[in-house]
Order: sequence, then C-alpha cells, then structure tokens
Amino acid sequence: MTACGLDFGTSNSALGVMRAGTPVLAPVEGESTLIPSAIFFDYEHMGRTIFGRHAIATYIGEHDGRLMRALKTILGSSLIDEKTAVGNRRIALTEVVEIFIRHLKAQGEAFAGTEFNSVVHGRPVRFVDGDDEADARAQNVLEGIAHKVGFKHVAFEYEPIAAAYHYEDTVTREEIVLVADIGGGTSDFTVIRIGPDRRGKPDRKDDILANTGIRIGGTDFDTLLNVDAVMPLLGLGTQLISKNLPMPKATYFELATWATINFVYNHKTERETRELLADACEPEKVARLYKTIRRHLGHRIAFAVEDAKIALSTAEAHDMPLGFLESGLHAQTTRTGFERAISQKTHKLTEMAAQCVTMSGLKPEQVDTIFLTGGSSLVPAVRRAVSIAAPNAHATSGSDFLSVALGLTREASRKFG
Ligand SMILES: Nc1ncnc2c1ncn2[C@@H]1O[C@H](COP(=O)(O)OP(=O)(O)OP(=O)(O)O)[C@@H](O)[C@H]1O
Ligand SMILES: [Mg+2]
Repeated sequence: MTACGLDFGTSNSALGVMRAGTPVLAPVEGESTLIPSAIFFDYEHMGRTIFGRHAIATYIGEHDGRLMRALKTILGSSLIDEKTAVGNRRIALTEVVEIFIRHLKAQGEAFAGTEFNSVVHGRPVRFVDGDDEADARAQNVLEGIAHKVGFKHVAFEYEPIAAAYHYEDTVTREEIVLVADIGGGTSDFTVIRIGPDRRGKPDRKDDILANTGIRIGGTDFDTLLNVDAVMPLLGLGTQLISKNLPMPKATYFELATWATINFVYNHKTERETRELLADACEPEKVARLYKTIRRHLGHRIAFAVEDAKIALSTAEAHDMPLGFLESGLHAQTTRTGFERAISQKTHKLTEMAAQCVTMSGLKPEQVDTIFLTGGSSLVPAVRRAVSIAAPNAHATSGSDFLSVALGLTREASRKFG
C-alpha cells in the first residue's frame, strides 16, 4: 500500500511520500515541490487545462480563458454548491477542486513510480467559523473528492499539527510549542508537547493540548490592501451626480477578492457600470473600473497587490505599478498603511492564538516556543500579533511553505505504514 501526505492549500499545494524513513516532497511542477493552487482553462486551445505557475503565466500572457485561484476557500463558503462557466460548459466549483487534486496526485505518482491508495489530507482547524455543520460538510466534500480521484483510504489531520510534526523532527529536547500556521486562507493554531522521545508514539492525543483556527489569511490581506490602495483609484468612495450617493461598493469588493474576481465579468455588471460611469462625479476613476471589467483585468490587479504585500514584508514602502490599466498609473503603498488596513484581522489572530493557549490549560509563560509557519507568517505585523499570546516564548520559524506537507507525509506513514 502506498500512502502520501497531501497539503491542498489556498495558495499553494504540495505532496510527499516517505523514502528511507524520511518525508520527501514530490516535484509537482517542473522541479518545484510547491505548486500554486491555480487552474487555467485555456479557451484559445479548448480542452487544455493548465496548472500552477504555468497557469498564471499563460493567463498573464493574455490568453483568453478562465483563471481560478484560492479554490480551497470555496469549500468553506456558500460557493460550495455553485457552478461556474468554463467556455460554454457550466461545471461545479467542487469539480474544479477535483481536477486540481487529480493533477497533484498524478504528479506525485509519477515521482513515486506507483499508484497511491491512501492519503493523509491536511485540513484547517476550521473550514467555516462558527458553523460545525458547514465545517463537517466541507471535509466531506474534500473526502468525496479524494475517493473520486482514486484514494481508497482517506484520513485528515489538522494542518498546524502536521506542521508541529515537521518541527518536531528538528528538536533535541521536550518543548511545549504554540504552532501558528498563517496561510493564504486560514490561520491555525495548536499547542502541543513535542520531543525526540515522543516522535515515534503511535497515538499523540495526549500531547495535543488545544487547537484553534479562523478563516483569516493572506488572501484577506490582499483584499484589504486592494480595497485600501487600489480600488479608490477605480472610483471606490467617489460620488454619483444625480443621486448624491457614493458608488456602490459590491463590485469593488468582488473584484478585490481572489475567489470572486470572475463573478464581475458579466453583461449585467458591465451595463450597470457603464450607467454609473455616465453619472460619476469622477468619471476618470470609474472609467478604470469599467475597463477592468471589460478587459478582465481583476487578476492582474490582484497579482500586483499580492506582490506589493510581499514587498512590504521587508520594505517600508512600495510603489505598485498598474501600467496595464493605464499608462503610468501607480498605487502608493506603505507598511504603516497596510498594517492599518489589516489591523482588525491581526487583532483576531492575537485572540485566536491566546485562546489556543487558554484552552490548553497552560499559562502563556509555560509555552516554550512559538513555531511560525505558512507564507503569511512572513508579515511582520502577523508575527508580532501572534507573539503577544506567549510573550516569553522563543520564536522560531521554518519551511514556511512546506512544513505542513512534510508533517502530513510523516503522519501518512504512521497511519498507513
Ligand atoms: N514574503 C511574504 N510576505 C507576506 N505574505 C507572503 C509572503 N510570501 C507569501 N505570502 C503569502 O502567503 C500566502 C500563502 O501562504 P501558504 O502557501 O502558507 O498558504 P496555503 O497553505 O496555500 O493556504 P492555507 O493553508 O491557508 O490553505 C499567500 O497569501 C501569499 O501572498
Ligand atoms: Mg497551508
């Protein structure tokens, strides 16, 4: 029986197998062991489906077609039952997830030289905040997909616990760790006891002291930065002449949210925006919105915003080029402005991390280490927010994009041999 660990992430995915007692990640896109969770349905070559970086590059190369990113957020939202137009077909969004996971599995099997029949799938602590039924449904859908793509045995593990198992491989003494996995879609926390002597234990229930999670991640930071720094250039916050009202906000928010960008590209929104343009106090701005809708530029903007966000992790300011929208157009961003835009979210992260420590029954000072992982843990404000929950703990980090997949792989070998 061959088992793998599979981390289907909101932004990036990875898959691993055990080799000589060590988890090894499969190259899933060219040489890379990490693949962006993105699909491009190419209309110029109907029937061609492209994945990962290649999907994004083809799309940016202005091929006509449909790009989909942040697929995982669909599972925890009301979009779980939605269909989407792909060419002249309508397919369920969950089928898009299935196509992606099938591809990932095939890449892993090509590397392993064998078919997989078992998988340990990662899952966030919460797919859905505050709704257990919807949360269970999200896992059921993912489990159904895993069976459909050919896994006979499917188990789930919380992503931060998997990250803890990966971190455990590196420690030389026993520690109480607060793991914070801050990804693209969710932030997940675990307080766990780890150590060299515990690694081999078949059952870790007694070591896992608490888990919490919330649907906050880097894609939310993208939305907030987009709404703060770019959408005003497209008329958000400007007035209409006749009605003495501001421009309606809904389209701006859809456009600034990865999972809903495509929803804006329809005749109705286009017509309504044309009407609003005729009534706009600042038509030069609303004209950019109209162009964005007509030319399908929403993803281009979202990528520019994500690049700016990443730049602000190391720089104090970043000039975001938007020349594809209008010659010479830029959006100015600063770290301070970004931190202000995401401050409600970072407060929530402190709350969730602190709640995890409280639920563990330990005092904050009993936490030895904070292990930060996930791409969004690279945001300085996020690191600060989490560290408040265990102020005396030593903070460490590593394998930001791969720790979960490596831990899931270890867990797969423990569960399925
Ligand atoms: N240097 C950086 N600074 C800030 N954010 C970053 C940086 N590098 C990557 N990110 C963000 O990290 C997120 C992706 O992280 P990661 O790959 O851990 O998420 P994921 O595992 O796909 O998502 P999830 O676990 O929530 O389903 C994206 O939102 C990306 O923009
Ligand atoms: Mg992740």
